[in-house]
Amino acid sequence: MTSVGLVGLGYWGPNLARNFDELSELRWLCDASPDALDRFGARYPRARTTTDLDDLLGDSELDAIVVATPAVTHYELSKRALEAGKHVLVEKPPAMNAAEAEDLVATAEAAGRVLMPGHLLLYHPAVRKVKELVDAGELGDVLCVYSNRQNLGKIRTDENALWSLGVHDLSVILHLLDEEPSEMWAHGNSFLTPGVEDVVFCYLRFPSGKIAHMHLSWLDPHKMRKLTVVGKEKMVVFDDMELERKVTIYEKGPWQPTETYGEWQTRTGDIYSPKIASDEPLRLECHHFLSLAGGDGDAQRVAQDGLAVVRVLEQLQASLVAAPA
Ligand SMILES: NC(=O)c1ccc[n+]([C@@H]2O[C@H](COP(=O)([O-])OP(=O)(O)OC[C@H]3O[C@@H](n4cnc5c(N)ncnc54)[C@H](O)[C@@H]3O)[C@@H](O)[C@H]2O)c1
Repeated sequence: MTSVGLVGLGYWGPNLARNFDELSELRWLCDASPDALDRFGARYPRARTTTDLDDLLGDSELDAIVVATPAVTHYELSKRALEAGKHVLVEKPPAMNAAEAEDLVATAEAAGRVLMPGHLLLYHPAVRKVKELVDAGELGDVLCVYSNRQNLGKIRTDENALWSLGVHDLSVILHLLDEEPSEMWAHGNSFLTPGVEDVVFCYLRFPSGKIAHMHLSWLDPHKMRKLTVVGKEKMVVFDDMELERKVTIYEKGPWQPTETYGEWQTRTGDIYSPKIASDEPLRLECHHFLSLAGGDGDAQRVAQDGLAVVRVLEQLQASLVAAPA
């Protein structure tokens, strides 16, 4: 059984602890806060606790390290873990710039270890359904994708809405379209903490001509978690706020009847919601990581996908900084 050490027991880490305790041997809990270690050490008595990452790095029986600390620490902690020969699952984003993300990918490859960024939404059964529809050509040619990730939510001061929220939608958009954008810009503003944008709008254009948009905010009174894919034949909406109808397919699209000599009309058909499994996305993500660590699946692909997301984030961030105040 794969042994796992978890670093970071703040808001998100405990969810990872629960899953790895059930799916693997949770061998270490590490956090800078002794209080957090007391609390979670009591809940997982078989795991050892420490404030020092070196205890995990020096444990020859430890196979993998899961990094769930603030984003600015991800690169350094993941790099040390890979160099110590551990497989790494690192929360998103794996690094705060493309050069560091590339370095992590190279380090993982050189060490023959897994580097998997925690792109949770890729494991959401609804996203898997949308991907299935896109790949099967059910929607016709995909024309555009847009996402809404708004809430009056956790207000972060160490990363902006682009890096904290946009990383989710970006991972899904790149996954669905299977290409990287050739043109992109972001506009936003920091209303609460100087230099940390709370509201960001992003535009992406892909070599195939497809376009995408993301609206990201933690200052919105109305919570939205929605992704829309518009195809030439059909449109699909993934709404994570819906309890049952997570995915809705609209058989609607533009249509050019021969007798109208080039004039476009709209075609409307059924609107329906396929059944979506209720599996916990994080559990599927943890399971995938353990499979990769066990030698199954394409580890290089997940590392490269994570790098692509950071590459785009970096370019969007550059356009955000460059925008006039
Ligand atoms: N996948 C998701 O849906 C999702 C959701 C929330 C957060 N996250 C990600 O999880 C990560 C953590 O976010 P959070 O909200 O839990 O943060 P947090 O601030 O609540 O917790 C971070 C924890 O890390 C500890 N820590 C910080 N530096 C450390 C170090 N060098 N060594 C050991 N411990 C250290 C802190 O003491 C704290 O307990 C972030 O990257 C965030 O983006 C992902």
